[in-house]
Formats: sequence, C-alpha cells, structure tokens
Amino acid sequence: MINENTQKLLNSQINKEFFSAYLYLGFANWFGDLGLNGFANWYTIQAQEERDHALLFLEYMQNNGLNIDLEAIEKPVQSFEKSRDILVEGLNHEKFVTDSIHTIYEAALENKDYRTTQFLDWFIKEQGEEEKNADDLIRRWDLFAEDSKALYMLDNELAQRVYAAPDLVLS
Ligand code: FEO
Repeated sequence: MINENTQKLLNSQINKEFFSAYLYLGFANWFGDLGLNGFANWYTIQAQEERDHALLFLEYMQNNGLNIDLEAIEKPVQSFEKSRDILVEGLNHEKFVTDSIHTIYEAALENKDYRTTQFLDWFIKEQGEEEKNADDLIRRWDLFAEDSKALYMLDNELAQRVYAAPDLVLS
C-alpha cells in the first residue's frame, strides 16, 4: 500500500524533523547567551515539538511495518550576525519542511495511498501554524526589538510558552 518512494520520503522526514529540533536548540542557545530567556524558552519548546514530529513519523512507519533507516543528523548553523537573522532562518526552515511534507503527500496521492495522505493532513495544518508563528516573531521583533522595555515584555511573554504533547494519536 505504501510504495518504496513514499517510504523513502517518510524515512528522510524523520531526519528532517530531528534536524529541526537540533536547529532550534542552537537558536535557544543563542538567545540564552544574550539573556533573552523567553526567546530561548520558545525555541527550546519548539525543539521538543520537532522531536515529537520525528517520533510521529517513526511511529507511523513502525505501525505500517516499514523499514526504518536512521540517518546522521547534520550539524546546524549556530552563529549568526544578528538575532533577526535567526528568526528569518526559522521561517525559511519551516517553509522548507512544508515543501518536504507536500512532496510526501504528492507521492502518496499519486499512489492512491490514502492512509498516508490522511496521516499527513495533521502535519500540513501544523506547518501552516508554524509558518505563521515564525512570521509573527519576525514582525514582532521588527516592532519591538529597538525598544528595550518592549523587548523585555515580549521576552517575558515568550517565557510563558509551555510544552504540550501533539494532539495527533496514531492508531
Ligand atoms: Fe516539524 Fe516545524 O516542522
């Protein structure tokens, strides 16, 4: 039912999601070093979500008896010229992940693999939210970063983010 190409793409998505977690941990470290602990918290939780995404792809493959081949996780970029560059990198990365998920979706659809397209529906919605969140962060940075009091308040707000497990339960 799940063809070889889709299987390969699902397998590689596990790696991309773990890489995303790694990338965001680097972002969290950057902001933590600057004393922007709210931003650091925001990206640490984002990393936890990405790890969850990787595990969901892994579990989906396991549940469907597919062969899993864990690949090496690339070293993420960890130094930037400016903090804003990180936020832009975050948005660009989410767009890349969206494209990657769309590619899997297209492969599954071409193969009439509706089980996989249904599984991916959750991720397509999630990517919409993640791109919006990343875009919002850039906008808010542009509005507030120059004003230290406003930046302090934004950082405090981001410090309130708490981890929540994904609401996707696989059968
Ligand atoms: Fe799991 Fe942000 O992509």
